[in-house]
Order: sequence, then C-alpha cells, then structure tokens
Amino acid sequence: MAEQLKKSASHNIALCRDDFPVLRQTMNGRPVSYLDTAASAQKPHMVIEAMKAAMEMHYANIHRGLYAFSQETTVAFETARGRVAAFVNAPSEKEIIFTRNATEAVNLVAQSWGGSVLKTGDEVILTEMEHHANIVPWQLLRERLGIVLRIIPVQEGGVLDLAAYEKLLSPRTRLVACVHISNALGIVNPVKKISAIAKKFNKDIAVLLDGSQAVVHSSVDIQDLGCDFYVFTGHKLYGPTGIGVLWGRYDLLAAMPPYQGGGDMIERVTFERTTFKEPPARFEAGTPAIIEAIGLGAAIDYLSAAGMEDVVAHEAALLKFAMGRLETVDGLTFHGAAKEKAGIISFTAAWGQPADIGMILDQCGVAVRAGHHCCQPLMQRLGTEATVRASLGLYSNKDDIEALVEGLGKAKRLLS
Ligand SMILES: Cc1ncc(COP(=O)(O)O)c(C=O)c1O
Repeated sequence: MAEQLKKSASHNIALCRDDFPVLRQTMNGRPVSYLDTAASAQKPHMVIEAMKAAMEMHYANIHRGLYAFSQETTVAFETARGRVAAFVNAPSEKEIIFTRNATEAVNLVAQSWGGSVLKTGDEVILTEMEHHANIVPWQLLRERLGIVLRIIPVQEGGVLDLAAYEKLLSPRTRLVACVHISNALGIVNPVKKISAIAKKFNKDIAVLLDGSQAVVHSSVDIQDLGCDFYVFTGHKLYGPTGIGVLWGRYDLLAAMPPYQGGGDMIERVTFERTTFKEPPARFEAGTPAIIEAIGLGAAIDYLSAAGMEDVVAHEAALLKFAMGRLETVDGLTFHGAAKEKAGIISFTAAWGQPADIGMILDQCGVAVRAGHHCCQPLMQRLGTEATVRASLGLYSNKDDIEALVEGLGKAKRLLS
C-alpha cells in the first residue's frame, strides 16, 4: 500500500489538490475554497480507497481470528500503529494507543494516569489557550480528587507568559498540559522549552502536549520535545473521524490502570479477578476503529509521500501571502501575531460579527469557522466572544485566499 501511495500521491504540493475529490465540488454554485482545515481536514482519495479496500478485500474483526481475512486485517491495523509511531518518532509502537480522538486521549490520561497518581492538593498546570479538550477532563478530575488547576496566562497578542509559568511551578506540581499549536490562533508554543523548564524544576513532573494541530502543520519528533504524553486526532491529519492517538512513555503506560474494561484488553477473566494485557492493548477495550486506523495509516503515508517539509514550506508561503492580502481589507484585527505561527489566521472585524461574516463567505464558496473554536477562556482573554478563523491545509492555494478577500469585501459592503 505504501508503494502504491507513493506512486499516486502528488509529489508537487501545488498539484495535490486534485487528490481531494471534495475540492472538485462546488459550494453554493462557487468553486470550494475550503479554509477550515483546523476543524477537520479534507480526505485524499488514497485514504478513501485504503478504507474501502480494507472493507472490500479482507474485512474481519482483528486479533483473535484464525482465518486469513482476520489475520490480514490485523496486520493492516497493526501496520497503521507502526506508521503512527514512525510519524512522530516514538521509540516503540507499543507506546501508541488508538483512541476515538484527541479528546478521548486526554480523558484517558486524566482518568487513568491522573486518577491513579494524583492526590488532593496536587497541581496541574494548563494554559489559557487550551482547547476545551485539554481543560474539561482536568476539571472533571478536580471534582473527583480535589486537585488544583493553575493556568499559564497568555500575554497581549496571544503568546504564553513563560515568566509567569515558572512562578506557577511548585512542589505540588505533577503535570504540565499544553497545546503545541493553538487551534484558535495558530501560535506555535515553545513546548520543548516548556517541557525542559518543568523537568528542570522536578524531573518527575509529567508533560502532556496536545498535538492535534501540530502534527498537521509541522514535523513532530516527540523524543526531541521531551514530553511524556502526546495526543492528536486523525480527522485533522487528512484521515477519517473516529480515530485518535495517545502516545505515552512506556514506563508510565505500564504503570497505569485500564481506562475502560472489556474484550481484547484482558489476559484472564474470572468472576473473582481479571488480569490485563500490557499496553497498548490494556487501553484499547472492545473492537477498535479498525478501518479508521487503517485510514489514518494511509493518511500518514500520503503526507510522507507529499513530504512534510514541503507541506510546511507551502503553508508558510501561503500564510505570508494571505496576511499580505488580508491586510488590504479595512477594519480587521488579527489575533495571535507571533514569530512562530502555523497556517491559522484568526480575526475580528470592526464592521461585522464573526457569524454574519461566516455566512456571507459561505455564499461566496468560502468555508471558514466563526466562533470560539472550543477555546472560551482564550476568547475571554482576547476580549471577544468569537473570531473568524481561516485555516490552511496542504491543498490550499492563492485562489482560496483571493476568494476569501473578495468575500470579505462583500461582507463589509453588506454589514457596514
Ligand atoms: C488543539 C486541539 N485539541 C483538541 C482538539 C479536539 O479534537 P477532537 O474533537 O478530534 O478530539 C482540537 C479540535 O479542534 C484541537 O484543535
């Protein structure tokens, strides 16, 4: 499959748009300018084909079947795990746990690691720019255990206040959980430095990074980052919905109790006592999202064939172009200006509400997101309820940006 994908994936990023069937459609009678990749990426036909082939050619449940189809599907599923491990440079594929999405991966860490390690009064440090997926699971744990949440503030403009972070570290700090690239602002956080500061203060502080946007917009090497847990979600990475990833340091995973109980995660069950498999199986109770994992593996193959460095360079050039063009639209305020920034542009307009702008852009064939982006605390900090967010993918091009600028001109005329 990898070889086949290599041959069919467009090595030239400018041509890869043709790999995405949905981008050949029209939206409201206009060519589609899909600028909502941060919410969910479109799927290349190689991913769709890989999932279809897995269902048409050898579909069966995995791990326990003695017949050929089951064994072939098991190999495809476990091969996808290996692809994920290589993609983020994990030391071992045993450290890759398939979850439903990034949200479930954070909940798994909170309930299993947090539930077994944290005590009343222990402190977890989050940032003001976290997605709700990396806030609410810790609040649920606070209800259960009486842990304390400390928040790294965001400075004017959106950059994290690292001096304030250092002051938050205390003898009770057990975990620092931080988003790698902000989905609302596109800011790339200095997560390697954030990990190093925590470890220098106390080597036993665990660091969890939410890489849901970072794996899409940059090359990620989890060993280099010095973290203990890394989570991301498949559907933003040009893969299907229903599949996410938790990477965890093996020694931590091996000491963690199961998150959910059921089939495929046990060694032996009696009514008196059950023993559990080693990770990753311990954390994958029940029939997993088999086809979706295979789809995620294909998406990673696709990205690797396209070349992650080329993808990053393409998005950086397009971001620069987009900022130049958007600055010609009167009355826009951009949120999240930073030196290190991925292809996510967040703005408000003096002349209109984000939701109204989003609806007018839709009429122009331009798909953006208008809202709080599941970052309500960050929005409060920015002093707004919502922003308009245009986010780039590897298929985005200058025509998309021109359509956005034209649509904003129309929105301004209608709303002013
Ligand atoms: C930074 C970040 N973290 C977590 C999530 C949650 O992803 P999912 O809903 O797939 O679990 C998102 C999705 O928007 C995100 O952008």
